[in-house]
Amino acid sequence: MIDNISTNAHAPIGIMDSGMGGISVLREITRLMPQENCIFFGDSKNAPYGSRSTEEIFRLTAKVVDELLERQVKAVVIACNTASSAAGKRLREEYPQLPIIAIEPALKPAVINCPGGRVLVLATEATLREKKFANLMDTWKDRAEIIKMPLPGLPEFVERGELDSPGLREFLWKHFQALGDKKPDGIVLGCTHYPFVRRVISELFNNDVKIFDGAAGTARQLRRRLHSRQLINPSLEKGKITWLNSSSDPGMLELSKKLYEIEL
Ligand code: DGL
Repeated sequence: MIDNISTNAHAPIGIMDSGMGGISVLREITRLMPQENCIFFGDSKNAPYGSRSTEEIFRLTAKVVDELLERQVKAVVIACNTASSAAGKRLREEYPQLPIIAIEPALKPAVINCPGGRVLVLATEATLREKKFANLMDTWKDRAEIIKMPLPGLPEFVERGELDSPGLREFLWKHFQALGDKKPDGIVLGCTHYPFVRRVISELFNNDVKIFDGAAGTARQLRRRLHSRQLINPSLEKGKITWLNSSSDPGMLELSKKLYEIEL
């Protein structure tokens, strides 16, 4: 598979997620580099990844990376915090020639913008239990009070295209009740599915909280990596997006396109 890594700047970028969430990263990538050709692979058949074991997440992520390499991509973006934490390091060791860009919860900008305050990190169980997050938290724990909150069940709302509903509001409200009077100053959306419900989260905190996610930072990191390898597509035309999904439900591709276009 290693022979399939393209060194052609016109080759597509492969972007993967456990499902639809990574589309929030794809949006930032095409905003920053509209001329790039992108292949988005959502592994909706196997979503959610967040409550699976590290080994299972690695196996599923590696399978998707292989699917993308079969399509001769020049770089892979793991647009999933869960897969990045559980599989990013091992994949980089297995594919040393492939530029692999991973995402991590945007704790750094949150702490910097809420000094001495309280930062709530929303992510999957797997992301919050992995060593990658423990290291990140160690770096920032003296600069703010950091509260971790897994939200198992939330990616499924997005996978159904349910971005605002009484059920979603009740689900979130119940979790946020557990904070008691510990109202956060900042919230990190540490799962790429969550930006699709950002507005509802913000409203539940009376629109009085700063919200951070890692999508734009990941897109900038991708651009730096492509630039350093002279792999930025020089075309002046708008790139093409190819949509792939492991689910046999054709509605998933329709929903993918809708999530890509929707105003957040
Ligand atoms: N979108 C994935 C992330 O960023 C997680 C969703 C899931 O549990 O599959 O962590």
